[in-house]
Amino acid sequence: MSYFLGIDSSTTGVKALLIDEKGSVVGAATTELSLSTPQPLWSEQDPVDWWNGTVNSIKQVLQDTGISADKVAAIGLTGQMHGLTLLDEAGEVLRPAILWNDQRTGAECDDIRARLGKAWLIEITGNDALTGFTAPKILWVQKNEPEVYAKVRQMLLPKDYVRYKLTGAYATDRAGGSGTILFNLAQRDWSAEVLKALNISPHLLPPTHEGPEITGRVSAAAAQATGLKEGTPVVGGGGDQAAQAVGVGAVQPGIVALTLGTSGVVFASTDEAFIEPEGRLHAFCHAVPGRWHLMGVMLSAAGSLRWYRDTLAPGTDFDTLLAPANNVPPGSEGLLFLPYLTGERTPHPDPLARGAFVGLTVRHSQAHLTRSVLEGVAFGLRDSFELMKSAGLAEINQVRVSGGGAKSPLWRQILADVLNAELVTVNTTEGAAYGAALLAGVGAGAWPDVDAACAAGVKITGSTTPQAETVARYEPLYAQYQKLYPTLKTISHHLSNLAA
Ligand code: XUL
Repeated sequence: MSYFLGIDSSTTGVKALLIDEKGSVVGAATTELSLSTPQPLWSEQDPVDWWNGTVNSIKQVLQDTGISADKVAAIGLTGQMHGLTLLDEAGEVLRPAILWNDQRTGAECDDIRARLGKAWLIEITGNDALTGFTAPKILWVQKNEPEVYAKVRQMLLPKDYVRYKLTGAYATDRAGGSGTILFNLAQRDWSAEVLKALNISPHLLPPTHEGPEITGRVSAAAAQATGLKEGTPVVGGGGDQAAQAVGVGAVQPGIVALTLGTSGVVFASTDEAFIEPEGRLHAFCHAVPGRWHLMGVMLSAAGSLRWYRDTLAPGTDFDTLLAPANNVPPGSEGLLFLPYLTGERTPHPDPLARGAFVGLTVRHSQAHLTRSVLEGVAFGLRDSFELMKSAGLAEINQVRVSGGGAKSPLWRQILADVLNAELVTVNTTEGAAYGAALLAGVGAGAWPDVDAACAAGVKITGSTTPQAETVARYEPLYAQYQKLYPTLKTISHHLSNLAA
């Protein structure tokens, strides 16, 4: 029996996960990480912590499972996307990594749009310039820390720093690479034109690879540090969203992955490089060779329900809180909830967007408020589905739902009715690390391709179908929901400025 190791270096921890040739999970270990916010809007981590966490988690999972290192046939990497790691001539870290959730680069985003033109930027890279992405972070260092920038010899994404420490090789995967917005999306590689316009030397960027392609092998030093066998192949892997999609089998056009965590992510595979012309959806390469994906990100999905519970029903468990909402009619008797509690990304990239309950009357009970939170999040997620359709996605046949919020049958039913789509749950719950392990298995030849790996490991466990009558009731409510953001935008901006 051979085993495959998936390593997910996320913002909160490094997880090492072992699966076998059937795609079954045999063990996992996680090392927690901390985040530093040295100034308002900043978010940084020390790349050395990622490597120490990786070493610790690999040692732990090998020890816990008792699996010998020579049985680990390949390793797949995933991790937080978009972060900027800068290395000098000797491969030493030059400054703390600037992370995906760092918000310091508003001016640099404007600068990128001014230099490239927004329409052209979206046409080439698939994306508008957002503070989360890598390119504006590079411009920020160019402008604010020129003495650091002068020493840069290599720029890596977080997962690729782990790759460098494991193998000694500089490389990235195309799912992660496209999240820098320095890619020509259709050509699946760095865009010479974008690099030139932004004064970024192509020599500072690593070669790019498809998800299951071997990018290097475990070095003697890394073998000694981790207990892995020297020479074990390391495949490209993918950014966490693409690897998460592989992990739930959302790899073919028509299947959408919906992750209901703190944030809500709608991820649709495509076999062409679709873009949303205004850049309201992210368009990146998939970790599946020759495929792409569209993605919408809602910042407070299950996070909205958690806020609501913690603030208005503290100490109540979610089952108890949600049960009475089953008896409230769809539409919560004219009550709408707007879920922009931490600003928004899709469809309104606006850090100053704000949440609201609209339509309150004395008839409304706590159960009405609860139901309208579930419905408001569902309407907000539907915005991403609508944008995907207008970007050219012909058919959405199935939605694979995962994450903490997906545990609620009521929320699943509301989502199926608001989205008018079949919702299914799957057996795999280990997220991106599991997807990375499947990609490693493909790289090692255990499965002929990613589709086959997903078919082997991912099974459907349940299904929720839309109810025609409720679908029809939600239509006019969704139309009113869509008017809320434009109507409240100016007031929200004033209120957040007043609060500051
Ligand atoms: C994706 C994104 C997040 C980070 C967090 O665009 O910003 O999913 O990758 O891990």
